[in-house]
Amino acid sequence: MGTIVTTAYRPTADTIAEAERIAGELDIQFIVRNKRSIDRIHADEQSDILVASKERLEFYPMGKTEPFFFHPNSAAFRTKRPLERDPLIEVSGLARSDSFLDCTLGMASDAITVSQYIGSDGNVVGCESNPNIAYILKKGLSRYDAMPHLTEAMRRVRVVSLDAIDYLKTLDNGVFDIIYMDPMFTEEIKEASNFTPVRSSANMGQLTDEWMEEAKRVAKKAVVLKAHFRSQDFERFGFERRVRPNTKFHYGVIKIK
Ligand SMILES: C[S@@+](CC[C@H](N)C(=O)[O-])C[C@H]1O[C@@H](n2cnc3c(N)ncnc32)[C@H](O)[C@@H]1O
Repeated sequence: MGTIVTTAYRPTADTIAEAERIAGELDIQFIVRNKRSIDRIHADEQSDILVASKERLEFYPMGKTEPFFFHPNSAAFRTKRPLERDPLIEVSGLARSDSFLDCTLGMASDAITVSQYIGSDGNVVGCESNPNIAYILKKGLSRYDAMPHLTEAMRRVRVVSLDAIDYLKTLDNGVFDIIYMDPMFTEEIKEASNFTPVRSSANMGQLTDEWMEEAKRVAKKAVVLKAHFRSQDFERFGFERRVRPNTKFHYGVIKIK
């Protein structure tokens, strides 16, 4: 499935220029909106659609009329609580100024929360294999300014638009303190979220031996997994499971000796 970029329903000189810039950056076609609905453009172009509007960049995968756009999501409230008690930060054993590779960036809620905790001496990189999600995240993290307490943490997250295994293979041994994976749940989660419109476009791949070997090679302190409580991956790949009562997901940790 290809992707095209267009403007909001009522284009302005700025949104046209922005859409043209995006077309150039992603090497995709810019299509004039012509007052068409999203459904109409899906039918005409048979493509996923990026929409440049005044406020934000939106993504409408084929068949979806609800947009995906950048928002800090759970990072907005997680960063208002004591960060050292955030479950991901606790289980990871993260220290301020650590380096953190998030192999499955998604909406970047985890990456933003970690970035806020480790501060300006740390380093947070997020890999996202879906190029449209990666692009929306890259733009959002560099521009979003509606939550001033998170602006710096968002700006510090570097987005890598690649499959995590391919990226890990480019890295030397032990260059990230913590390597984190949060693959898509195979068990269906009923709650709707900002991610719902892109769920069917996301990479549904699960952990593999190759992914784990690379993660353990590149991690200095620990490899951390978040998965559904019914997932067998904790035991299969040797994670120490951290049970979280009454939650749908657990964390697993492999400490690197
Ligand atoms: C469950 S979401 C992650 C949510 C994220 N932890 C957050 O805080 O928003 C999984 C995301 O990782 C991406 N993904 C899955 N496997 C990947 C891989 N091997 N490499 C890069 N991205 C991957 C999916 O496309 C999806 O966007």
